[in-house]
Amino acid sequence: MTANSRYAAITGWGMAVPDRILTNSDLEELVDTSDEWIRTRTGVVERHVLSEGEKPSELGAAAARQALDHAGLEAEAIDTVIVTTCTGDRSIPATANSVQHLIGNDRAAAFDINGGCVGFIHGLQVATSLIVTGAAERALVVAAEGLTRFTDYKDRSTCVLFGDGGGAVVLEASSAEEGCLASKFASDATAIELLTVPAGMAERPASHETVDERLHYLKMEGSEVFRRAVVGMELAVRELLEETKRSLEDIDLVVPHQANKRIIDALARRLEIPDEKVYCNIDRYGNTSSATIPIALAESVSSGKLHKGDLVLLVAFGAGLSVGAALVKW
Ligand code: ACO
Repeated sequence: MTANSRYAAITGWGMAVPDRILTNSDLEELVDTSDEWIRTRTGVVERHVLSEGEKPSELGAAAARQALDHAGLEAEAIDTVIVTTCTGDRSIPATANSVQHLIGNDRAAAFDINGGCVGFIHGLQVATSLIVTGAAERALVVAAEGLTRFTDYKDRSTCVLFGDGGGAVVLEASSAEEGCLASKFASDATAIELLTVPAGMAERPASHETVDERLHYLKMEGSEVFRRAVVGMELAVRELLEETKRSLEDIDLVVPHQANKRIIDALARRLEIPDEKVYCNIDRYGNTSSATIPIALAESVSSGKLHKGDLVLLVAFGAGLSVGAALVKW
């Protein structure tokens, strides 16, 4: 992004997870796994999961209400609601419409972005661009994910990883240089099949056969995705820093997507970032797709790790296969 006279400050933040917790010992009852394997290979100890009847939009709306409270705004003040999700309530309409309705706003523009686990960074950049160009004044970027609804609890290599959650930020026009200052995205579409839910939409609509073959659940080539995640995120961070003429020493906090503790550790090792500068909460939530970053941001503020004026680096990797990174002045 070039120098602007108008910026999009982050003035509110929030997070929400379902009450129900699924522990590693609960998973030991479902598949051939162990608490020890899950902790050492993924870093996950427990994850929050939607109960029957609960919806991702409700998590997004709860997070959005918190974000509005922090910003001191009523829902009607928002002119744009962007929901990032790859596991939203329905394929039609957008989950953004449901979130918008739940928070009590029935006028704003509302649309979804499906960028897989990178989605929140896409949403942040799109909302920022709308505000910077004057097309919007006050936007909500809301991650609302129900990944466990697409998780096969007969597949031990994926079911231990995922949880459900929501996270949100409010963006408002500002003349000070703050908010999302720059971003970097890339996608390798030759790798679509490495991480996919094969059926249930237009390419392969739901049928008895697709259900019998469990094709409406997420399939992942874990070790290949792992390898590409580390390499891809390192490259995105290095390119972003080079383009913005910043160094890692300038960064106060790195908030990476929470897919696997070993991926986060490997990234930190390659970039030579000390542990205390890297936020990690995967032990409590698992991978909540695009919600991991806004959840981590909200927790970083409430735990005193992130302060106004800090420079934060966001980085994520996921389905697509896609990568994204953003430099944010909090
Ligand atoms: N419990 C016990 N053993 C297991 C389990 C389990 N839950 N899962 C797999 N194993 C076994 C395998 O069967 C295999 O056994 P074998 O050697 O006898 O064949 C062994 O453990 C090693 O399997 P790998 O798949 O090589 O294990 P790995 O160390 O790669 O860990 C994991 C698997 C956790 C899935 C890892 O590859 C990973 O985290 N991948 C990346 C995930 C990611 O970043 N996804 C992107 C975002 S997700 C999204 O976009 C929705």
